[in-house]
Formats: sequence, C-alpha cells, structure tokens
Amino acid sequence: MTTATARAHTNIALIKYWGKKDAALMLPYTSSVSLTLADFYTDTTVTFDADLTEDRFELDGRSQPTTKISAFLDQVRALAGTKAYAQVASANHVPTAAGLASSASAYAALALAASSAAGLNLTPRALSRLARRGSGSATRSIFGGLAIWHRGTDDASSYAEALPATTLPLRMLVVMVDAGPKPIGSRQLMANTVATSPYYPAWVEHNEAAAQAMVQALAANDFSKIGELTEESSAQMHAAILASHPAFTYFQPATIEVWHAVQAMREAGLPAYATMDAGPNVKILTLAPYVAAVKAALPAGLTVTTTAAGPAARLL
Ligand code: PMV
Repeated sequence: MTTATARAHTNIALIKYWGKKDAALMLPYTSSVSLTLADFYTDTTVTFDADLTEDRFELDGRSQPTTKISAFLDQVRALAGTKAYAQVASANHVPTAAGLASSASAYAALALAASSAAGLNLTPRALSRLARRGSGSATRSIFGGLAIWHRGTDDASSYAEALPATTLPLRMLVVMVDAGPKPIGSRQLMANTVATSPYYPAWVEHNEAAAQAMVQALAANDFSKIGELTEESSAQMHAAILASHPAFTYFQPATIEVWHAVQAMREAGLPAYATMDAGPNVKILTLAPYVAAVKAALPAGLTVTTTAAGPAARLL
C-alpha cells in the first residue's frame, strides 16, 4: 500500500478559459490567467492498494460515483506502470456559502496525491498537464498566486506556470448570489458555446490577445488595466454564452445588481472590477485598502467572503 495526501487551492480566472479544441486531451482554444485563492482548498488522500478490486471515492465522508475519478486515475496508472486500484478521500474547504466551484482544487489535489502515491515525482509542469485531464481550471491550481495556462497545441505544450508575483495587494471578494446547483455544467455549456455561438471565434481572438495584455499589465502592476481586462474577459465569455443556441445565461437578477453596484463604485472612484464564472455568483477584484468600502457599497443581505492570493499545491 502506498499513500499520499495533498492540498490544492481553488483559483479564479482573470482571463477566462472557455472552450476546448480537443475534448479528449482537454486542450483549450485560448490561454487563461488566474489568481489562486488563500481561503478555499481541497485536501485529498490517495492510497493505492493491491487488494482493492475497484477504485473507491469518498467526498466529505460520503461515498461517490467513481467514473470520472477512475478515468483520471487511469492516466496516473499508465504513467506509473501500475494496475492497482485506489482509495480516494477528499475534503472540500470551499464553503458552499461562497458558491464557488471546487473542480480546480479537486483535480489539482488529486493529481499531486495520486502521482505521489503511485511513486511518481512529477515536476510542477507535468503535474499541471496531468491536472488538466481532470478539469481545465485545475491546470492553473498547481501554482500559487498568479498563473498562466498556455493553450499550447498538444498534450506536452498545454500547461500552466506561475507568473511573477505582483506588488499589488490583490483581494477577491466572493459575493454569493445563489449557492444552489447550476442549471448546466461548464463542460456541457462550453461545448455548446463552441458549436453554436456566432461570437465564439471573436471570443477566441480577443481572449488570446487579452491573456498576453494581462501578463504585461500584471508585470507593470497596473491595477486599472488588470481590472478592465478581468471584467472584459468575463463579459465577453458571457456574451458568447448568451449568443449560443439555445440562448442561455447563468446571470440572475442579483448578479446584474451586484455588477451595477461595482460600476457605480468605479464612478465613485473605488478600484473594483467584477468577474463571473459558470454560475450566478460575482467575484470582485480590488486592492486591500478598499475592501471595506467595496463591501459597504454592495447591495444589502448578500454573503461576502474576502480572500487573497493563496499558495501552490503541496503534499501534507
Ligand atoms: O475547467 P472547468 O470545467 O472548471 O471550467 C472553468 C470555466 C470557468 O471557470 C468559467 C473559467 C476559468 O477559466 O476558470
């Protein structure tokens, strides 16, 4: 029996990933840039056990279906040259009240724990390629702070790496609009956007340029540029989704209400920018000195969690 436990933090994309060019290899159409978050993470223990007759998976103490996990573990078994099944136990420290998806932290933690338990000593780049096979956003969660996922052209060239740390005291406020399950998962909706949205080609062209512009804005510590690029990448992703067939949006009335509040904050001189993912919740990017003022300017009655840059995935 060989066992390992890993912790990985979730991340929020400043420049979004939306759409796969190759669904089997999980190669994206565009590069993306993200901030790994301090307060939200997944702990996963993997034990390969020659006596098991199938993989087992427990999340927060409850037994779960293993189809996706087993497909992922098959990649690890192929790399390590083993046939042993595994026991996987995960605990999510992503409060449901935050309304954040946990697939990024989940597959980054699984990639590190499973590869270590299988006796592999993968480089961060190889780990990020492995995590990519579980969930695109997990590619970036191998790294702490700011990361870029280079879209690449094949399995070897599509990986994430850490970007130089900014001197800006970045803060992310997660505004919970609805903690319920989303009406359509990101995997299915992404595929439909690629297949049917007339705006998708424009999204690819603009978002790729935006990823490169974001790298420069971060290096220059230019917060208003970073914020503008962040809000625009999200808006353009949601515009492509809205224009797909059948037309669809994750937005709820409170999503728009919060976004309008953020626009009003900027008019009042507060540096705050909104970004939304595959769900109705809003994340607000700001700087440490403005957190209290941003919170005070939000519509009343919503749960807000404030967090900052978090660390890379690591073995516990
Ligand atoms: O890899 P997934 O299925 O978690 O998709 C992530 C998609 C977005 O969160 C909307 C954007 C992103 O880059 O994280």
